[in-house]
Amino acid sequence: MKTVETLNELWQARKDLPGPVGLVPTMGFLHDGHLMLVKEAKQSCASVVVSIFVNPTQFGPSEDLDAYPRDLQRDLSHLEALDVDLVWIPTSEVMYPANYQTWVEVGDVTKPLEGSYRPGHFRGVTTVVSKLFNAVQPDVAVFGQKDAQQVAVISQMTRDLSYPIEIKVVPIVREGDGLALSSRNTYLNQDQRKAATVLYRALRAAEKAYLSGERSAETIRQIMSETITDEPLASAQYVSCADLLTLTELETITNGALLSMAVYVGKTRLIDNWILGKPNAD
Ligand code: PAF
Repeated sequence: MKTVETLNELWQARKDLPGPVGLVPTMGFLHDGHLMLVKEAKQSCASVVVSIFVNPTQFGPSEDLDAYPRDLQRDLSHLEALDVDLVWIPTSEVMYPANYQTWVEVGDVTKPLEGSYRPGHFRGVTTVVSKLFNAVQPDVAVFGQKDAQQVAVISQMTRDLSYPIEIKVVPIVREGDGLALSSRNTYLNQDQRKAATVLYRALRAAEKAYLSGERSAETIRQIMSETITDEPLASAQYVSCADLLTLTELETITNGALLSMAVYVGKTRLIDNWILGKPNAD
C-alpha cells in the first residue's frame, strides 16, 4: 500500500494503477462502515484509492472541526489489512492553496434537511468531492447511505458535471442495538451511548406504522418525534418523511419515502435514516 500527500505524488502513483479504479473518500477515523465501502470498491475495481482528509469547508463555524476524531496510524493499518492500493492524505494547503476561490454548488437537493441546518455544508462537500474526482479520476466512487442527502447531492453533481464515474452506495452499518456507525459516536459517554439508540427506535416505530398501513407523512413524523421526546437525553433537530428523489417533505406516502432525522444526544449531533417501501440493509 502506497501513501501520498501532494498532487504530483498522487498523479504519479495513479498512472501505475490498473483500472477500473475505485475511490473511497473519507475523513478518516475509520470504522466498519468505512471498511464496508472499501470492500465494495474492492469487489468491482482492480485498484482502490482511499482519501483521508478532514475537509474544513464542510464544517460550520460552530461545528466540531477541531474536535473531529483523528487516528491516522490506526486508519492506515485498517486499510493495509484490506489491501488498499493507494491512500491519499492531502493537507489543507494541497486542497485549498493560498488564494483558493473556486466552489462547486448544487441546487435544490442541497436545500432541505441537512442543508437547512448546516448552511454551506454541501458546498464544502461538493467542492472537495469534485476536487477528489478530478485528481484521482476514478471509474467508481463509493459512499455510505448513512449520509443519504450527501449521496443524493453527489449523484446530482456527478450527472450535472458529466463525470464518467459510477456512484455506488453501501447500506448503513449498525451496532447490534441499531445505532448507526459514525465517527461522532466516540463523543458519547455511557449513558448517552444507550440513549443514542433512540434514532433507530424512532425509525423502526415509524416503519412499523407504515407497514400497518399508515400513509400520512405527518403521522409518521409525529411517531418519530414522540419516540425521541420520550428519551430524556435526546432532542430532535428535525425529523423528516420526504420524497426519495427530491427530498421535499411529503403529505401522503404513495411511492416510498426517506425517513431521516438529526438528533442531539448531549452535545453530539447524530443523523440516521431509513427507506420506506424499498429494502434497507437490515
Ligand atoms: O462523508 C464524508 O466523510 C465526507 O463528507 C466526504 C465525502 C469524505 C467529503 O469530505
